Amino acid sequence: MDVEFVGKIRRWLKKSKSTVNVLYGGAGSGKSYTMAQFLIFYKLAEGNKRILITRKTNPALKISAYQLIISLLREYNIPFALNKADQTVKVGSSEILFKSMDDPEKIKSAEFNYIWMEEATEFTLDDYRQLRLRLRRQTDKKNQIFLTFNPISKNNWVYKEFFETKHKDVAILKTTYKDNGFLDKEYVQTLENLINEDEAYYRVYALGEFVSLKGMIYSNYEIISEIPDHFDEVIYGLDFGYNNPTALIKIGILDERLYILDEMYERGLTNADLIDQLRRIVESTNSSIYADSAEPNRIEEIRRAGFNIYPANKSVKDGIDFVKRKKLFINQNCVNTIKEIESYKWKQDKNGNVLEEPVKFNDHAMDAIRYAIYTHFTQIRTIETANIDIF
Ligand SMILES: Nc1ncnc2c1ncn2[C@@H]1O[C@H](COP(=O)(O)OP(=O)(O)OP(=O)(O)O)[C@@H](O)[C@H]1O
Ligand SMILES: [Mg+2]
Repeated sequence: MDVEFVGKIRRWLKKSKSTVNVLYGGAGSGKSYTMAQFLIFYKLAEGNKRILITRKTNPALKISAYQLIISLLREYNIPFALNKADQTVKVGSSEILFKSMDDPEKIKSAEFNYIWMEEATEFTLDDYRQLRLRLRRQTDKKNQIFLTFNPISKNNWVYKEFFETKHKDVAILKTTYKDNGFLDKEYVQTLENLINEDEAYYRVYALGEFVSLKGMIYSNYEIISEIPDHFDEVIYGLDFGYNNPTALIKIGILDERLYILDEMYERGLTNADLIDQLRRIVESTNSSIYADSAEPNRIEEIRRAGFNIYPANKSVKDGIDFVKRKKLFINQNCVNTIKEIESYKWKQDKNGNVLEEPVKFNDHAMDAIRYAIYTHFTQIRTIETANIDIF
């Protein structure tokens, strides 16, 4: 079978003799796809190799790199043995382990030849250092670690570690959507349109540049690793998507403190898929779910499936002002929420004036959180008394 690669990335990966390989750049440049192909066709094929593919959290790992590798192995008719419980795949005498950093014990007891850190900005510098220590399985070839990510913020550890500091034995490649001839036209259009939306976002996601983001919307938040074991109340925010991700955010309220506890963030969900997910995730059907009121039919269908769902008050500016007055404590496993909040900013016009509307890109978790918090705290009385659609 003919296997086609994004050529620029394949050439760079093939050539690299460096231990650390930093593959970063704009959205949709082929980083993940080519990395997966490269591990399959070049690294697994060496034989007797142990490869770790990792992401900060397991749910994210499973719907991204894990799914991608399995689907490519199938597509290329490469025989493999999958152990679902362990999340390991054997191909000939080589093996791939899929482990996330939210369960580091499993990683600490193993040694690897190659490691791929997918969406490396989600990790901490300490996670990276721990992973490097595991890169010491002895074989005939040099061991290597690969990091793939978007340049989300100069505040992220990857910028300080690889761009502000010069290390030996580190190779860096930047790519953009222009390097990826397989990208569909609609997505190219979305990226190119970002220039009309916001210049800084255009530079990050289309041009793949690190920028200092100005006009950030939320700064009053803290990322936490331990969460309380009980809450006064649990509510959910829901932003519908299909081509864009659907975001469902679980929020715990404890003495006026707000905890972002959990997130579901998935593309391509029909309403039926979403209802299945809600049955799995929403612990009590008494919990209120506040959803995008632009989709009354979807809301009605979810209500008929037995959920306590309400159309959200969508006033953007007032909602943001309200959320800004509260401190948010975000579970470190909510990687999409963290990624969004770190770059959620006000739109700027061509002269650099900050406008009173957020950039509409990577804002799905942000919308879901605002729907839930603003509607819950401001409309709570009306909803309780009326219990009907009032917006
Ligand atoms: N070799 C290939 N053959 C077919 N399609 C490809 C190939 N490489 C990339 N693509 C297509 O391009 C899309 C974008 O590639 P990929 O997901 O690897 O980009 P990325 O750089 O990881 O993007 P992001 O920064 O958003 O994570 C893929 O979803 C896939 O459809
Ligand atoms: Mg990717």
